[in-house]
Order: sequence, then C-alpha cells, then structure tokens
Amino acid sequence: MTGHTPSPKTSTSTDTGAGADTRTGTLAIFDDKAAATHHLADWLLQEALAKTDGPFSLALSGGSTPQLLYSMMASEPYASRFPWARMQFFLGDDRFLAHDHEDSNSGMLNRLLFSHVPVPAENVHLIPTAGTAEEAARAYEAELKTFYGADTLKPGKPLFDVNLLGLGGDGHTASLFPGQPVLKERTAWVSTCVPPVAPYTRLTLTYPAIDASRHVVFLVEGASKRETVAKVRAQDPSCPASAITSMGDLTWVLDRAAAPADA
Ligand code: 6PG
Repeated sequence: MTGHTPSPKTSTSTDTGAGADTRTGTLAIFDDKAAATHHLADWLLQEALAKTDGPFSLALSGGSTPQLLYSMMASEPYASRFPWARMQFFLGDDRFLAHDHEDSNSGMLNRLLFSHVPVPAENVHLIPTAGTAEEAARAYEAELKTFYGADTLKPGKPLFDVNLLGLGGDGHTASLFPGQPVLKERTAWVSTCVPPVAPYTRLTLTYPAIDASRHVVFLVEGASKRETVAKVRAQDPSCPASAITSMGDLTWVLDRAAAPADA
C-alpha cells in the first residue's frame, strides 16, 4: 500500500515477524476514501494470490466504512481475479441478529460481496444466530478452532492472514466497547458484549484472537475519526482499540482527513 510509509511486506509464508501494536503500526495515507479503498483492494488481491501454502483467511469488519471495499471486491477487475476457492472468510464481530436483518454485518456482507462472487459457501463462516448469544459465541469459537486445527493459539501460528478492523468514535473496534467485560477476556476467542451505546447484543473476536493475525489493518476515514485515531495511536486506555496487537504487522489505512495532521 503506497502512502507515507512502506506497505506491509507481502509474505507468502506464515512468518509473522516481530509483532506490532497501535503505536508501532505503519501509516498508509491516501488522498481520499476511494483511493484508500482501492489500494486496500489491490493489496488484498496481491496477498491472496501470493498465499499458496494454504487458505487465505480474512476476518472482516462490519460498519459502513468497509462497504465500499466489499462492493469493489465484488466487481471488476477484482471479482474475476481473487482466488475465491482458496479464501476463507470470517467476521470480526456481528450484531446478534438474523442474517437477513438490515443491521446484520453478515447480511451486509452477503448483500455486497458473497452473493456476487464464486466463493464456496463452506468458505464463508458467518457468526451463528441459533440459541443464546453465549451459545452462538461458543459455536463460532469451535468453528474457528476447527479451522485453526488446535484449541489454543500458538505463538507464530496465525489464525487469520488479514484481520480488517474499523474504528468507532468512542475508540471501539470490532465489538470491543469501552467498559465492557469482554475487554478483560484473554482466553476465549469469541465473546459477547452488550454495549449500552450501541444497539443489539454483539458477538466479537477477543483481543487474543485478533492478535493471531499476520496482518491487522485498520481502515478508517473521515475527519470525524481523526481525534480517535490519534488517541488510539497514543494508546489512550479509554479506547479499547488502543490495546489491539498483531503477531504480524499492523497498518493504519487512512484517508488524509482521518490521518494525523503532521503525517
Ligand atoms: C460494527 C463494526 C464496528 C465498526 C465501527 C466503525 O459491527 O459496527 O464492526 O466495529 O467497525 O463501529 O463503524 P463505521 O465504519 O460505520 O464508522
């Protein structure tokens, strides 16, 4: 990804490097959201094509910011170039809603991406909706562990190739919201959250599950997020996103409006 700093290396191995966090993560700054999204789509395509020693696994974010990316991936020149059969898709979080609910991240991804491309249905791992939220979290965690091939995360063995995250104005990411018990969760890979400020019970990857990524990418745009990006990069403890780490690398993909003024 072009920008003020070199893009993360495109590594074909599962080598994850030294690790990164929100302070050490690299900045990739683009003139506007379209340019940032276009470069992210190019970079994802490059990564997916380069990954030949196993499936290319992505955990995708909900919210509005990444919707342009998903639509872009579902259209040319990307739709015919991504190796869909070699890709595995997961969600970083979802609202505990039926997948056809208008506020479901799974439903949004089905509408924008999965219904338009030839990804095998068994490669799309939407967050379950059956039973209670806690039961769905346990079921999703079991699905992740089956994919990973072990019940405990191992140093240097990533669960995801790419973990795409957004950033809320209050410093939340995925469904890791301020003041929520899930912020203390360091064993489970999936947990629940009932944020007072956001609608619906949520299911979310936890910090250790997000850390188990070769590449963590924050995609953030707009002047309204500039202050929050600065707080998270300064690791302000009031922002749950501050504590995000990556066993590989971490990149901030920003438009100029969300980027630090001095960058
Ligand atoms: C969700 C997302 C959430 C999102 C932020 C930013 O389920 O809503 O996973 O973490 O990324 O709230 O949302 P916007 O991109 O809409 O600003």
